[in-house]
Amino acid sequence: MKICCIGAGYVGGPTMAMIANKCPDIEVTVVDINADRIAAWKTDDLPIYEPGLLNIVQGARGRNLFFSTEVDRAIRLADIIFVSVNTPTKMFGEGAGRASDLQYWELCARRIKEVSTSDKIIVEKSTLPVRTAEAMERVLHSGDNEVHFEVLSNPEFLAEGTAVSDLEDPDRVLIGGHETDSGQKAVELLVNIYAKWIPKDRILTSNVWSSELSKLTANAFLAQRVSSINAISALCEATEADVADVSHAIGTDSRIGPKFLKASVGFGGSCFKKDILNLVYLCETYGLHEVAAYWQKVVDINEYQQSRFVKNIVQSMFDTIAGKRIVILGFAFKANTGDTRESPAIKVCNELSAEHAELVISDPQALKNAAVDLKELKNVRLEEDPYKAAEGADALALLTDWDEYKDLDFKKVYQSMRKPAFLFDGRNVLDHQELFNIGFEVYSIGKGRLSHLD
Ligand code: NAD
Ligand code: UGA
Repeated sequence: MKICCIGAGYVGGPTMAMIANKCPDIEVTVVDINADRIAAWKTDDLPIYEPGLLNIVQGARGRNLFFSTEVDRAIRLADIIFVSVNTPTKMFGEGAGRASDLQYWELCARRIKEVSTSDKIIVEKSTLPVRTAEAMERVLHSGDNEVHFEVLSNPEFLAEGTAVSDLEDPDRVLIGGHETDSGQKAVELLVNIYAKWIPKDRILTSNVWSSELSKLTANAFLAQRVSSINAISALCEATEADVADVSHAIGTDSRIGPKFLKASVGFGGSCFKKDILNLVYLCETYGLHEVAAYWQKVVDINEYQQSRFVKNIVQSMFDTIAGKRIVILGFAFKANTGDTRESPAIKVCNELSAEHAELVISDPQALKNAAVDLKELKNVRLEEDPYKAAEGADALALLTDWDEYKDLDFKKVYQSMRKPAFLFDGRNVLDHQELFNIGFEVYSIGKGRLSHLD
């Protein structure tokens, strides 16, 4: 059996490496129009930073895992084609700023139709609006091509930074297919591929529309939990409650559960915002305005939380940060990735820069992306070494929960900074009392401030 995956990004690369690793009898070819990305997948300097991924890739590369820019050839030879291209928020025309931009997906569908000479199963791996498969089937079966295409939905639930364990041992795999004979046969084929390493009771099947909608809903629910606790963090700051205590107290209720209740400077990542905006747009398209407004608030609270963090910095530093040096500890949207898409650090840096602060950005993996994200800003310096970054600075703002920041020698850091030295912990990962004892002015999310200035 031959599999082709169109799109060698954060999803296509790791998911196909795992399938190739677990199924040595299947030949897997990952294709992309981005030649640099494909070239990097062929080296040990992979195009994405993901712990454990290199091992998985090395285990199958050259044996039954191949990376190529020959898109047409891989399509023609494949029995199953996963489409894992980007589906960003549409930035023009109808639905601009909310709807999903499906142009890359449709281009793939047209290419598949154009070059295929045998029947194929097309798997939606990208996150797509509910009922996209219907539109894609129309494209695939338009004209006089005799070939039959069976479209399945198989959304991906991996999180960056833990992609390898998420793929190896997922909570579930979801496969949606049509309730026709050919649809069910295709579902069974895909179920049997995943069953090579995932217990069958964790492989869920449904119709295509439920599968498509489940992906958007899962991301909306996860993001909603973060926005809910972040909304409560603002109330904690006003009332001397501690958001960590509140989070722990509610999370021990087995009906609520402890995960995704960590207050922060806000959620980032390429998908939460775009998928919720897409859900909002879909609801509005179906005339469900109240439902749309409900989900829109999850995104609104996230923007509010980021701006609130900056406002707190400005107010704490005597209402002016013009000319003051602020070190950003962590630019990635979460730890263990170099990905900065929709990272809260982007909005925070833009707002700090608008106040004429001088910025020094430090991150173990994301500086290359940070340079692109901040290229319009003046007075920005990139410095990987956090100790050098902190020299002569007025404040530190921790925005990514990298482990290495928890282990910094903060006495040394404090000594090299200008006084009063401020620390704003946007992830609540540091020992605030200890930092206060060292001499820092300490501000965090949803907790009382620790100040020597009162
Ligand atoms: P990405 O931008 O990292 O990768 C997409 C790749 O598709 C790019 O390399 C691009 O060059 C390629 N591409 C675009 N059009 C193409 C075409 N016509 N032919 C060949 N290649 C083409 O995106 P990603 O983060 O991997 O996300 C892909 C999809 O998976 C999105 O729909 C996203 O919502 C979803 N998703 C992402 C994650 C995640 O953690 N990043 C998790 C689950 C689901
Ligand atoms: C998320 C989902 O967790 C995946 O299941 C999904 O497949 C993926 O989106 C996707 O569709 O792209 P990801 O964005 O990689 O994965 O990372 P998460 O761990 O979900 O974190 C998202 C953001 O929320 C990060 O900025 C993180 O720091 C923040 N977060 C998370 C919090 O602020 N508090 C929490 O308690 C949890």
